[in-house]
Amino acid sequence: MIHVIQGWTDTTGVRDDMQGAPTNKPVTSEEIRRAWLDFFKGKGHLEMPSSSLVPHDDPTVLLTTAGMQQMIPFMLGREQPPRRRLVSIQKCFRTTDIDSVGNLRNLTFFEMLGNFSIGDYFKAEAIAWAWEFVLDWLKLPADRLWITVHPTDDEAVDLWLRTGVPRERIVPLEENWWGPPGLSGPCGPDSELYLDRGEALGCGRPDCKPGCDCERFLEFWNLVFMQYSQDEHGHRTPLAQKNIDTGAGLERLSAIMQECRSVYETDLFRPIVAGVERLTGLTYGASPEQDFGLRVLADHGRGMTFLVGDGVVPSNEGRGYVLRRIIRRAVRYGRLLGLDRPFLTHIVDLVIDRMGKVYPSLIADRERIRQTVATEEERFAATLQAGLALLERWTAEARDRGERSLSGELVFKLYDTYGFPEELTAEILRERGLTFDEDEYRRAMEEQRARSRAAGRFAVAGRALGAALDVPRTEFLGYEATSAEGRVLALQRDGVPVEAMGEGETGVVVLDRTPFYAEAGGQVGDTGVLVGPAGRFLVEDTQSDGAGHHLHLGRVVEGVLQLGETVRATVDARRREDIMRHHTVTHLLHQALQDVLGPHALQAGSLVSPDVARFDFAHPRP
Ligand code: GLY
Repeated sequence: MIHVIQGWTDTTGVRDDMQGAPTNKPVTSEEIRRAWLDFFKGKGHLEMPSSSLVPHDDPTVLLTTAGMQQMIPFMLGREQPPRRRLVSIQKCFRTTDIDSVGNLRNLTFFEMLGNFSIGDYFKAEAIAWAWEFVLDWLKLPADRLWITVHPTDDEAVDLWLRTGVPRERIVPLEENWWGPPGLSGPCGPDSELYLDRGEALGCGRPDCKPGCDCERFLEFWNLVFMQYSQDEHGHRTPLAQKNIDTGAGLERLSAIMQECRSVYETDLFRPIVAGVERLTGLTYGASPEQDFGLRVLADHGRGMTFLVGDGVVPSNEGRGYVLRRIIRRAVRYGRLLGLDRPFLTHIVDLVIDRMGKVYPSLIADRERIRQTVATEEERFAATLQAGLALLERWTAEARDRGERSLSGELVFKLYDTYGFPEELTAEILRERGLTFDEDEYRRAMEEQRARSRAAGRFAVAGRALGAALDVPRTEFLGYEATSAEGRVLALQRDGVPVEAMGEGETGVVVLDRTPFYAEAGGQVGDTGVLVGPAGRFLVEDTQSDGAGHHLHLGRVVEGVLQLGETVRATVDARRREDIMRHHTVTHLLHQALQDVLGPHALQAGSLVSPDVARFDFAHPRP
């Protein structure tokens, strides 16, 4: 079912002085893409291809959330742009509110149309051109357009008045401030364009206007006046060069141009929703609950396809966790819609069939994307029923006790044992009018982490490493030397501090400085010998205690070793060289795997020893 909103076939407000504007307005998403690029290229902009959803070179952001992200180095003056005027259509992914996706407003994946000035034009042109594009190219009726500005931005108000927007349709809004996307970076006041979609969609309040929560006013384009740089502490300094960054959602513009109530009825989504209808045997528009689920599948299908396409692999951390969350949420909604068998690869196909023309790499990567999604779906499906049954039991028990909250321990158990992302459990509980103890959940998570950290350290060493050391950290000399002198700061036998160790005894030696590399990052520790004034200690392994001390593990093969003595520490250099060669091999292999298999082939772990190198990575096929 398609909801058509009040149309605007009348030409009120369309100016007759348009120059160079096409006769017909763009309607399909393909036509909108074309119009956007043509318009801004006509104003001297260079087209920049979309960057990956995985941000390049910015560890403070998880995913690409705006078109300006790849322009940040230009805006801060750190890199030279290929031109000062740029235009793009950028793949974006926003993780805020994943739990509410399925409503008519939020999307995870979307495409952002943007035009950018890198120290070239500023507010006057950005505003005049936005107005020209919406009136002359999109042919939107001027009397249905509203503008919001930051309350401090009188300049923007003047510029909008000059285009002919009446003052009563320019609304100051405190929230009109944008950026930075990470912890620091460029930011500034912004000004947004809204379309009044008619009273029928409104809340009916007499003061309803942009900023109201109802559906009547739809924001579709944000013009950001980037004039500050903000540091991690929120401190702002004016930028040497002023920049323009704008963002318009392709999906929303498509909804406007195609006169649809929501993005899900546009040509970008319609084939996907229709495919999901066929798959489930349901009809979109028949029931609000089912519609919500159908929209979850359509949105998350796009999200997972593009994330995996850009190399993200499901995991329990960072972007991998975002991907895992949407795959698992989609599986659960699939079950609610009656899909009991694996179905996600069908949705991936629908997305690739729809989007592959614009993003041909999706077609090339189809098998890899299907495999990755299918594996995660299988993994979760296996435990979903059991986990849901448990959750049902616990919620019933809580209700019987008259409680409205579940213990955090139980929610953690669902996460740990059944792979239920915390947010998914929270969503299911919310549907039943329940909450859970989040502090208790975090405590359980932290305890688990501490346990695995401890287990990890001792398991790697294969033996107890002894009591905590109360001596200065070890200075590591191994990058420059394989032999050096050091003073014995601590000795331990059977995990107990001792003053001296005699012939035949095994234990741990800690020096103030050492050339011995301690096992880390999958590279095994060095072996060699410590020679003191009265004895020799054979080093069989070197480990770190995680507190900055290198622990030489081995045994006294001759004489005695005493606290305070100076010893010569000599690494088995031949063995070290073999290890280094294998270390180099892992780097070469890493690059080769990425070249051959794709950007998802990232290092997950490795073992580097003198005889063998092992490299762990995730790839969904043999
Ligand atoms: N960077 C502009 C926007 O995201 O709206």
